[in-house]
Amino acid sequence: MKTQVAIIGAGPAGLLLGHLLKSEGVDCVVLERQTGDYVLGRIRAGVLEQITVGLMERLGLDARLKAEGLVEEGFNLADGERLIRIDVANLTGKTVVVYGQTEITKDLMDAAPSRGLEVIYQAGDVALHDIESEAPYVTYTKDGKEERIDARFIVGCDGFHGPSRKAIPTSVAREFERVYPFGWLGILADVPPCNHELIYANHERGFALASMRSHTRSRYYVDVPLTEKIEDWSDDRVWDELAIRLGPDAAANITRGPAIEKSIAPLRSYVFEPMRHGSLLLCGDAAHIVPPTGAKGLNLAASDVHYAAEALTAYFRRADNDAVIGYSAKALARVWKSERFSWSLTKLMHRFPEDGPFERAMQVAELDYIATSKAAQTSIAENYVGLPV
Ligand code: FAD
Ligand code: DHB
Repeated sequence: MKTQVAIIGAGPAGLLLGHLLKSEGVDCVVLERQTGDYVLGRIRAGVLEQITVGLMERLGLDARLKAEGLVEEGFNLADGERLIRIDVANLTGKTVVVYGQTEITKDLMDAAPSRGLEVIYQAGDVALHDIESEAPYVTYTKDGKEERIDARFIVGCDGFHGPSRKAIPTSVAREFERVYPFGWLGILADVPPCNHELIYANHERGFALASMRSHTRSRYYVDVPLTEKIEDWSDDRVWDELAIRLGPDAAANITRGPAIEKSIAPLRSYVFEPMRHGSLLLCGDAAHIVPPTGAKGLNLAASDVHYAAEALTAYFRRADNDAVIGYSAKALARVWKSERFSWSLTKLMHRFPEDGPFERAMQVAELDYIATSKAAQTSIAENYVGLPV
């Protein structure tokens, strides 16, 4: 098979890119290792910045997002005694939208056949070849047969564990990494949220987050040491811990219910440079990971895709190679700012095992500064809604 762009991975990054390229008349094919149902079963992000909402709007695939997404005008930081409300709408003139990654992925997946976007699921042994040439190709197996796609470009949207990043020689690459000593235990339940706005809490027993997917579906997280096993966390234990960490006001409004999903995700900050080598571009988690505090991962994948679609469209429409050459630097400038924000909010809202009284005093002072300074609140708010692309 021959195409202009071979996209590896049909998560939100790969599907968004596929739709954007198709809408610009660029031919592409998406290869995914898993089944569609498996991809939809992964419960992940929940908060969308305007860049992500805007891309869905531009594609004309935002009808359900508009109808079902919850527009959030602010969120809260809980410091054990009070709620510090960050009035995002008033401070920035912008809002975020609560709409699950699963729903975005479903909308993109459902629209693929009618938009002529070919997505090949259950593609095994995906491998990249000749990425330093202008005629790269991808091989894979499907139904026991070896297949090959020839393309002008390959875009790796295959997440943190995919093969694309590994195809870039280590001699030209730099990696930056920080692994955190805890993970987030998440619980999804069909119960009304305890608050109409998100609450990020720093309690002496650890971090907690109250989030939601709809008026009837809640998403909560607590941080746990990496040694914890999910089997040791009964639903009741998670609800008890949330009630303590979120504080008495939120606890009074928590509705408990059986978990429909419960898992532990490790926290990591990671950046791979460059995000382009030869004819291979990387987008999303394939190139970088942020800790989830601040809800930046999916949104960062969306901004990468925006830049990549712009660059590839310029190449095929106008034979303009400059945008492809400049893709990595442009995407990384925004990536690093999101890395900084996610890392700083993680540091502010979690109790690190190595921290002593001084580090705790710094958290208290920073939270107090935020509570009393409009400038500090504006800085948090403009990062939370997403920096300009
Ligand atoms: P992925 O979603 O990982 O998709 C990659 C795809 O590539 C997958 O479908 C995978 O099966 C496929 N693939 C992998 N290997 C191969 C292969 N060999 N061949 C073919 N295909 C392959 N982000 C936010 O913005 N807001 C949030 O609120 C938020 N909350 C989060 C909460 C949790 C618990 C977690 C874990 C993450 C959260 N994130 C959040 C991060 C967000 O989910 C990710 O950043 C996002 O999924 C990145 O999208 P992606 O398409 O780059 O990668
Ligand atoms: C959710 C996840 C996040 O990482 C976050 O910062 C906010 C919300 C969520 O899954 O709802």
